[in-house]
Amino acid sequence: MFSPQSTDAPKPKPVVVGITGASGSVLGFRLIEELILLDQVVELVMTEKSYQVIFEETGFKVSGQDKALRIIQHLNLPESRAQQLQVFENNRLDAPPSSGTHMTQGMVVIPCSMGTLGRIANGITDTLVARAADVTLKEHRKLIVVPRESPFNQIHLRNLTTLAQCGAVILPPMLSFYLPDFGTIEGQINYTIGKVLDQLGFTHNLYTRWGQHTESAPAR
Ligand SMILES: Cc1cc2nc3c(=O)[nH]c(=O)nc-3n(C[C@H](O)[C@H](O)[C@H](O)COP(=O)(O)O)c2cc1C
Repeated sequence: MFSPQSTDAPKPKPVVVGITGASGSVLGFRLIEELILLDQVVELVMTEKSYQVIFEETGFKVSGQDKALRIIQHLNLPESRAQQLQVFENNRLDAPPSSGTHMTQGMVVIPCSMGTLGRIANGITDTLVARAADVTLKEHRKLIVVPRESPFNQIHLRNLTTLAQCGAVILPPMLSFYLPDFGTIEGQINYTIGKVLDQLGFTHNLYTRWGQHTESAPAR
């Protein structure tokens, strides 16, 4: 009897990642690294401004024909991993994440600028990152927004509230102080990336969970 079973392992649905021109590009790259190591497929959308901020913050120029390979090399991952990463420019409104028919596991905008936040919260879908986020919400898939600005004004807060009311997870890169991993910038970055992975449902060891560390817990 004919069996439709294939010997190829099914590819996981991609995770869409948006990197915008807010400070904290390192967070976006750390997330990509972890997702790749978790054998996920990443569809990365980079805004025009993100290229400048990445360069200002890390000295890394994301340029050339094969941006996926450049990023994989920058992350010190084996070049074969470039197959798991696809990079789209922000004006590519015809790219797969622009359509709800394209299945994904959800989207993370990390770091999310106040400009992109405003576009998403107000349904202005003239960029791929905003359109992909809009699609993620309309399809009731997970949208995680990692906003980066301080202090927030009322426009930012209203836009964040709007997105939270529409079902997005607002996950700011907050400093944490109560566990042993948190004494370094690396530990703080891992904490935020771990929280994003928690939301996406992936297992990780990026931070020690409360109750798992060896220090005795303070009396409460
Ligand atoms: C070095 C640098 C750091 C920036 N940091 C932030 C930030 O943390 N948050 C923010 O909302 N905008 C920040 N901006 C401004 C945004 O890049 C700018 O508003 C841009 O238009 C955002 O566009 P995008 O959302 O399409 O990336 C920064 C700009 C530069 C050059």
